[in-house]
Amino acid sequence: MDIVFTGAAVDFAGRPALHPLTATLRERRIGVIGLNGSGKTTFARLVNGLVRPTAGTVTVDGRDTVGDAEYARGKVGFIFQNPQHQMILPILAEDIAFGLKNRGLGKAEIEARTTAILDRFGIAHLARRRVHELSGGETQLAAIASVLVTGPETLILDEPTNQLDLKNRALIERTILDLPEQAIVITHDLALVEHFERVLVFHAGRLAADGEGAQAVAAYRELAAC
Ligand SMILES: Nc1ncnc2c1ncn2[C@@H]1O[C@H](COP(=O)(O)OP(=O)(O)O)[C@@H](O)[C@H]1O
Ligand SMILES: [Mg+2]
Repeated sequence: MDIVFTGAAVDFAGRPALHPLTATLRERRIGVIGLNGSGKTTFARLVNGLVRPTAGTVTVDGRDTVGDAEYARGKVGFIFQNPQHQMILPILAEDIAFGLKNRGLGKAEIEARTTAILDRFGIAHLARRRVHELSGGETQLAAIASVLVTGPETLILDEPTNQLDLKNRALIERTILDLPEQAIVITHDLALVEHFERVLVFHAGRLAADGEGAQAVAAYRELAAC
């Protein structure tokens, strides 16, 4: 799916968080790296209309993310930096079903889809568990399942492995690599994105490098050293 930034910029209270950016994203695996505060989350939130551009436009499949925010939200799922905050209902299966109820699906269809997505991510045994009692890795899988159950074509993950131990980090990395959906991954996990088709490097609100993984990671190391 094509995501097109055309001179898209974001100011917060007159301070630029993202300088005008023009880029087309269509690769299946896109990494986003950069120092803290460099504009990565702001960039990502523009894609599904969570942040509005102060100037320029962002389109998803040719549809404007401001004028047609519902469309962008249907096509682009977002996993927040703290995924426990996006779980709304107390029991995992209910939380997953919630997104489907909102789309007006019938009970049998909702049950079938909920079961299928739990199976897909190997977490069927967690269906009746309380979401706030899940471990870090389980929470991350649960959040991915609850977003993907509604069928977005693209998934954005904001620092998905940051709070995880080595074992869960490997699990979530593998899960991301195996997604058939397009994925945009914001991360400090340079080993994860090193082999991605495309990696964007942000620095002080600007796109400072944009290329295949290894080359972009090298550019980031250089920027971070100064
Ligand atoms: N809602 C907001 N209000 C005011 N300033 C913000 C807001 N969100 C982000 N910023 C500022 O914008 C800049 C970029 O932030 P962000 O996109 O979160 O960076 P990153 O994700 O790379 O750490 C930072 O200076 C941050 O303080
Ligand atoms: Mg961020």
